[in-house]
Amino acid sequence: MCGIVGYTGCNEAAPILLEGLETLAYRGYDSAGIAVWDGENIVMKKEKGQLANLKAIVAREPVFGACGIGHTRWATHGEPSYINSHPHGDAKKQLVLVHNGIIENYIRLKEMLTERGLRFVSDTDTEVIAQLIGDIYKGDPIPAITKAIHMLEGSFALAILFRDDPNRIYCVCKDSPMVVGFGKDGAHIASDIPAMLSYTRDVTFMGDKQIAVLSPEGIAFYDEFGSPIDKGCTHIDWDLDAAKKGSYEHFMMKEICEEPVAFRKTAEQYVSFKTGRIKADCFPWSEEDIPSLRRIRIVGCGTAYHAGLLGKKYFSEFARIPVEAEIASEFRYSDHIFEEGELLFVISQSGETADTIAAMRMAKQAGVRTVAVCNVIGSTIAREADDVLFTYAGPEIAVAATKSYLTQATVLFIAALHLGCMRGKVSEETAAELISQLALIPDSMQRLIDGRGEIQYYASREFSEKHVFFIGRGIDSALAMEAALKLKEISYIHSEAYAAGELKHGTIALIEEGTLVVALVTQKRLAAKTASNIEEVRVRGANVLAITNGNMPEVDSHCAKVWRIEEMNELIAPFCAIIPLQLFAYYMAVQKGCPVDKPRNLAKSVTVE
Ligand code: AGP
Repeated sequence: MCGIVGYTGCNEAAPILLEGLETLAYRGYDSAGIAVWDGENIVMKKEKGQLANLKAIVAREPVFGACGIGHTRWATHGEPSYINSHPHGDAKKQLVLVHNGIIENYIRLKEMLTERGLRFVSDTDTEVIAQLIGDIYKGDPIPAITKAIHMLEGSFALAILFRDDPNRIYCVCKDSPMVVGFGKDGAHIASDIPAMLSYTRDVTFMGDKQIAVLSPEGIAFYDEFGSPIDKGCTHIDWDLDAAKKGSYEHFMMKEICEEPVAFRKTAEQYVSFKTGRIKADCFPWSEEDIPSLRRIRIVGCGTAYHAGLLGKKYFSEFARIPVEAEIASEFRYSDHIFEEGELLFVISQSGETADTIAAMRMAKQAGVRTVAVCNVIGSTIAREADDVLFTYAGPEIAVAATKSYLTQATVLFIAALHLGCMRGKVSEETAAELISQLALIPDSMQRLIDGRGEIQYYASREFSEKHVFFIGRGIDSALAMEAALKLKEISYIHSEAYAAGELKHGTIALIEEGTLVVALVTQKRLAAKTASNIEEVRVRGANVLAITNGNMPEVDSHCAKVWRIEEMNELIAPFCAIIPLQLFAYYMAVQKGCPVDKPRNLAKSVTVE
């Protein structure tokens, strides 16, 4: 989705803005622009397409000045074009602004402003905001902003430059993230933390409708009615290099290679590998809460939902409690019957996914207690959930979620195990045994990553496939859904996940000579059943690749190729089995020459509905 940066201080703004936009490029965009106060005027440069296009323009026609804002646009209202790119200004040329989010009542506002004689040049909802603020503005920015934001419906993060107020940037947001921070050379804004890290690690997350005024001397905050407020900082301890590609060709590969460390870091927040015990005080429930706990619901989108599906298996297996997992965009518009004693797990790497936020708020309003599983401190979900269980994946830049999925599943596994112990469904000994097995996982993962050459070779032979089917039973059918999503989103190969036993009810009609079917078989007790399903597709011509949990001779004989993970407990196996599947998607995409880290049409942080 769109990205915003801003800087005011003692250095040239344009290079800082362009660098910041580069850092935010992973969010997805189709045009980019900057506006810089040059001492006399606000100069705008913008262009459709890649950031390189904008950089070329700025190199040809440099803009000088120490205060500016920048934007990468992911088109929502109006096609990607020069005219629709941000920044946008008002008719009287009093201000320019950049915007993330969607204004839902923009047509009504546009009609009202048109009746007042204002003419619009773009198709965007953003220009409506610029014209609205410009129409209200009487020389003092804060009253104009406060009045305008109360007329806007929808979501917005805005950074605004006023012609009469040089060197200041005005920011305000609602339901769209924005962070501000003060470094040694001035003040910065960004819609995401990585764009800020080279300047400061002490950042302030903007709350809904709060206003920040950035100047070279500092940052002042106001509430939605314009009264000054104090706001604290959050220290971000992410390693600066963690948000850089280093020697890797793609962020996705770097992030897969980081999984053993991300897993260990996350697991060790919640268990001690030394004592084999769960760190009970990390969890937001106590002995007194347990008798009234009746049901667990899990929501998330995309990969986060898929991690939730693993969570569903863990809660039902360990805690023996009714549990449902639902896609957040469906959950938010369903007519739920909430009951006392429900707990909602809200899964989100970014903590800014619009549908997940809406699902969380809906449940909270109905009195349901919410627990976020989130990777970003200070994000909307982390702030608004009743409790948070953080994942410790570090920044994830590639659009394809990899280490976030792993760490979300890890947190859900341990949370479920803890609830299982508290509900008397899992003994301390069983928990200790499982924790001792978790301790072995990073090394097993590392060996899979080290052996990735075989997967690369396999992908080099299969990358021209048009359709790939992923099948599995039980926990493997949840894993299959994530494997299929990973492959389709980055390689553009049509891929589908199917519960292995369901194939013969329709989908098997699509199997023909040479169709690639990837069978996931990590549960010994279901291996013979899945082997039968493999045989059903094999005899119809499928080329079957299986991923097995240790040796599974009953599966091997039906498959053209088998990749083995080391033998392990079947509930733990997904942590390792996902690695070859992510690597497979990666190498297929690389072979096809796809832009692995920034697949077409996709954005890292989906902040609109
Ligand atoms: C998957 O690779 C995607 N990046 C996507 O499905 C993602 O998991 C989803 O948009 C949810 O994002 P979140 O975890 O930041 O809420």
